[in-house]
This record gives sequence, structure tokens and C-alpha cells, in this order.
Amino acid sequence: MTEHILDMAAPPDVYRQRRARLASHLVRPLVIFAGRTRTRNPANDYPFRAASTYLYFGGPPIQGAAWLIQPDGHGDDAGILIRPQADPDDALWMGEPPPDELLASVAGLDRSAVAGPDQLHQALAGRSATSICPPCPSAMQWAASLGLEPAGPEEFLPIIDMRLIKDRHELEAMRRAAEVSVIAHQVAMMNTVPHEPEALVAACFRSVLDANQCAPSFSPIVTVRGAILHCTAYNNIMKPGHLLLIDGGAEEPGGYACDITRVCPVSGEFTPIQKHIYQIVLRAERAAVAECVPGRRYRDVHDLAARVICEGLVQAELLRGDAQELADRRAHALFFPHGVGHLIGLDVHDMEDYGDIAGYSDGRRRRPGFGDKFLRLDRDLKAGMTVTIEPGIYFVPAVWQRDDLVKPFADCVNRPAVDALLRDNFGGIRLEDTVHVTNTGGPEVLTKTLPIEADAVASIVRAQDKWEIREPHG
Ligand code: GLY
Ligand code: MN
Repeated sequence: MTEHILDMAAPPDVYRQRRARLASHLVRPLVIFAGRTRTRNPANDYPFRAASTYLYFGGPPIQGAAWLIQPDGHGDDAGILIRPQADPDDALWMGEPPPDELLASVAGLDRSAVAGPDQLHQALAGRSATSICPPCPSAMQWAASLGLEPAGPEEFLPIIDMRLIKDRHELEAMRRAAEVSVIAHQVAMMNTVPHEPEALVAACFRSVLDANQCAPSFSPIVTVRGAILHCTAYNNIMKPGHLLLIDGGAEEPGGYACDITRVCPVSGEFTPIQKHIYQIVLRAERAAVAECVPGRRYRDVHDLAARVICEGLVQAELLRGDAQELADRRAHALFFPHGVGHLIGLDVHDMEDYGDIAGYSDGRRRRPGFGDKFLRLDRDLKAGMTVTIEPGIYFVPAVWQRDDLVKPFADCVNRPAVDALLRDNFGGIRLEDTVHVTNTGGPEVLTKTLPIEADAVASIVRAQDKWEIREPHG
């Protein structure tokens, strides 16, 4: 008898309640597909990750499954779980599929509400229905064969309302993801060694996730080229004087994500200018985290971080003028060209597959300017939301080569000072934590056990352990 373990983030009755709540908003049946892995060649697949909306409603992590959520329900449940038709040969290579009884029990269903694909066809026959489908060819073909229309705001909005506010099971899952992420960052920093490749640190980071049965919540960024915002190559050699930017997080087995960025000096000591810039980013991070309270508009949190960065850049004599005026003119975007953070949950950029309808409240749109257009979130914060806060300062050659971006600020930028840092390949500094907005006692920084002070980060890099590990015969 095969032992099956299906990792679920919440107890069955919670999923049942979520499906009932969704059904109460639907006017047509909705099919939510789990998707399948992509096949690289016939017996070699990429890792499978079920689609987040399917997971949220209690979908066990199996390929080719789907939810049918019906406004008129099924028995006392609104959901029917469609599991794939088993191919008898699969048992040879992959083991027996989980039995329907188990699928039903973890998803909070009656056994009769677990069915095969044919029953989905029968249940939908002649009815107009919609679907939420990941970008997965087999699920898309299945949806097309059923004549399903893509879901739209009518279906997305109630789901977004539910997923925006994390319940205690989701928060517990995110705390677990944070715990593993914090250890992974510490191990990574302890293995930041001059003359070694970035790949060594990336491997150390990932090994902690693997050992804790977590996946990366996105491809970890481990780079001495921090000015490339999403650099996922690990092919540079770390040298004394470099800053190493590590941006990564765990996804715990139930699918919930964490996201943390730290920057450490490869030599174990920041140079004075590195430390100076680091302290500006840290002030912006702390100011922004403190504003993660109910009622605060997230765009204002971004703008606050921008002002703190302008203040720091004026003190550092990289910008000239009044900090608030500089921020109002968006001068910070030359140095801080992205948004201050995003929603996080089952996806590291939570619900971005729905488009800005998730990150932006009704009637709000992205501001069009450089920097502002990359802000992923503009909602009024509410207790139970989970967001990241991740300001940064970067010296990006591709920004400073663009007249359209730079010329409007010729009067207020100390260009020789900027050019000197570009020549020195300063890179970039970003500091990021995952934050839970609460009603009581201020924001809960889920990742607070990872040191963020410059001296504390540098001392982790200098930790003796790495020398003991690396020079056992020394
Ligand atoms: N931490 C990477 C990102 O948010 O895109
Ligand atoms: Mn992030």
C-alpha cells in the first residue's frame, strides 16, 4: 500500500468554506485548472507546481486536476474535484496515484465529489461556464475543448478579495516559509567567500530550501551585479570590494512564499561609501515598513521611501536640492527605479496573473513615469494583507546612458560623483522584508529574525564557520 502525503496549507473545512464563499458570488460554473508540468522530452519533465488559485480552494497538488465550482453547489459543497484519468503505466514510474478518499479528505469533500474528466464534460454539457487556466498548453486545450470562456473581473474580484486577506493558516504557512528563508540567507552569507563563484552561494541558499522540502519562491538572485534588478545568472567570481545581493525566498510545501533581500560585502567589510548608501536604503526600508498599517495607501508608502532616499542622496551629495521637491519630480527613480514592493502569498508577486486588478484598487492606475510604472501595488492596506517592502539604490549604466531619463535632472544630479560610482561598478543595494499588516501592535515583519543592520550582516559574512567548513585541514 503506497503512503501518500499531500501537502496542504489549511484544514479541509477551511477549503470548503472558501469554495462556498466563491460559489455565492458566481452566476455561472467556474473551472479552475491546476495545470501540468511542461515536458522537456517524453520522460523528463520540469518541476510541477499547481496553479495558485486551484491550491487556494483546496486543490491537492496533483497534475491535470481541476475544480468545478458551481453556483448551485453539489450536495452540501460547491466544489467538484476533477482528478485526471489514471494511466495504469504511471504507477510503474511514479507510484500509485493518491486514492479518491484521500483527495476528498484533504480537500474537505464528500467522496462522491471527486470525479474523472468525463464527469466534468457531463456536468458542463450545454451550460455556459468560465475558467481560470494557468499558461499551460494541456489545460488550455482542455478549457477550449469544453468551450469555456476565460474568467473576468466578475470571477476575479471575489477571489482577489478573499486572497488579499490572509487567514491564520496562510499566515502560519508564511511564517514557516520565512523561517526557512532566514536560515537560507544566513547560510548563503556565511558562504560568501572572495574568489569563489556566485554559484557557490546560490547552491548554499538552495540547499537549505531543499533540505526543508521547500522550493524557491522564484529563481533566487545571487549576484555581484546588483544593478541588474533580476539577474539570475551566477557566473561571476566574487571579489573583495564587491557587494553581493541575495534576493530569494522559500515556498513552503503548501505553496506560500517568502521574499527577502540582503546585501553583504564579499570581503566582510563595507567600504565607507557602500555603508553610506546602505544606511540610506535601510532608513527607507524602516520608514516604509513602519507605514504598513491599516488604512495607509501603499502608493504613499512607496512615495515615503522615495523621499527618504532623496534625503539620503542629498546628504551623500549625489543629488542637490530639497528632498521633497526632488521626490515630487521623481529624481529618485534614477537611483530607485522600481516599486517599493508587492503583494505576497501563494505567489511571490501574489495574484499578478490576474493583472493590475489585484494590485490596484478599483479606479487606480499605474502612474506612467519611469520608476512609478513599475509599482506593482496601490491599495489601501488592511489588516491581514501581506506585502514586501524593498527599496533600493542602484547605479545602473543603462539608466545613465538614457538622455530621456537623465536630462530632466541635469540641474540636480552630481553627475561626476555618479559617474565615479558607475566606473567603480558599485552595483546596487536593495533591502527587503516580508510584512504582515496587523490591527494591533504595528506591522509583523515575518522575516525580522534575519539581521539587516550593516554591521550584523557583515559579521555573518565573517562568521568563523565558513573557514572551518572550507579549510578543514587548514
Ligand atoms: N524579490 C524579487 C521581486 O520581488 O521581484
Ligand atoms: Mn520582492
